[in-house]
Amino acid sequence: MNKMTETNLQAAFAGESQAHMKYLNFADTAEKEGLLNVARLFQAASFAEQIHASNHLRALEGIQGTTANLDTALGGETFEVDQMYPAYMAVAEKQGEKKALRSMNAALEAEKVHAKLYGAAKQSVEAGKDVAAVDIWVCTACGFTMEGEPPDKCPVCGAPKAKFRKF
Ligand SMILES: [Fe+2]
Ligand SMILES: [Fe+2]
Repeated sequence: MNKMTETNLQAAFAGESQAHMKYLNFADTAEKEGLLNVARLFQAASFAEQIHASNHLRALEGIQGTTANLDTALGGETFEVDQMYPAYMAVAEKQGEKKALRSMNAALEAEKVHAKLYGAAKQSVEAGKDVAAVDIWVCTACGFTMEGEPPDKCPVCGAPKAKFRKF
């Protein structure tokens, strides 16, 4: 692919991914405001943006087999844990941006677990087998991720056990 088209497609992938997320959150707000048909419009558009993003990623040949995908995922999480969030948080700290700092710290803590789980999954898949059928739980307040049974309180944000969603 020509470099310029590749760069443009990456920008379009980022933009569509963000629109997908924004519209999902806008739909929730519209729902809370009792504007159910506006919520439905946001949900439909969000789904369409998800399709656009997936098609862009496919055109970029960004989706491979699971072994390679796990490697990509592990690389992304490791970069976030080792470089991106520590650097971003240092800036936020210096600038006294408490809200940003809290949000980024919650992400950092979850990404550490994601990296660990992806690493283990990669080893397993490389050895020719799926990972064990262990419950995975995500805190719906902060995104903290864990295996097994969730604790009474989220260790990152303090949300109660009932806030955890099982996968
Ligand atoms: Fe992650
Ligand atoms: Fe949490």
